[in-house]
Amino acid sequence: MNAVLAPSILSADFSRLGSEVKDAEAGGAALIHVDVMDGRFVPNISIGPAVTAAIRRSTQLPLDCHLMVEDPQRAIPAFVEAGADMISVHVEAERHLHRAVTAIKAHGRKAGVVLNPATPLGALASILPVVDYVLLMSVDPGFGGQEMIRSVLGKVSELRAWIRRDRLDVRVEIDGGVNEANLDDVARSGVDVIVAGSAVFGSGDVRGTTARMVRRLAELGERERTC
Ligand code: DX5
Ligand code: ZN
Repeated sequence: MNAVLAPSILSADFSRLGSEVKDAEAGGAALIHVDVMDGRFVPNISIGPAVTAAIRRSTQLPLDCHLMVEDPQRAIPAFVEAGADMISVHVEAERHLHRAVTAIKAHGRKAGVVLNPATPLGALASILPVVDYVLLMSVDPGFGGQEMIRSVLGKVSELRAWIRRDRLDVRVEIDGGVNEANLDDVARSGVDVIVAGSAVFGSGDVRGTTARMVRRLAELGERERTC
């Protein structure tokens, strides 16, 4: 399976969010990545459950909610109610990770955990077998449009090898600083889901850029299969 694209609406034009999301969907996006920030865990405030529910009404695509908030467990029911299909919590923000992951799964949603760039993979040791996906941040979270911390690509490959070795059913997602120039390297790291915010919504052609990136990921997947 080649990697799929999850455009992050953080860099979208919020005054026309519905059509921005529809353009990404028309371009071949697999998921819509929803960045939730509380101004405490990260130094920025973005959107909450009400806007997530509005996005839910604009697209058929699964909503991938990335909670960059303190005490994320408290926020889970509201995002379930808003229509999130996937919910991820930061290991740096959640003291009771197993309980949070169990709660997300109990609601029938996919559960993910997120690691900031400086957090070592070892933080996943006891939680990896029970999560549906791991989101590796390739920027310190809080803002779109930052430059990728490239050492995270090695972390992706290492995590992929760990998952394969233990025969786990866990997807790997990367988030931060992905653009058309580094897309090939990101895809080759072995990632399953690629988040891209400013590269898609700052391009001036959301549908065309999404389609081009999705096509490139398919080509790279095809090449890997035939090599
Ligand atoms: C960063 C967010 C990202 C962000 C990615 O805090 O978690 O999802 O929107 O934006 P780009 O792709 O511009 O780095
Ligand atoms: Zn994100």
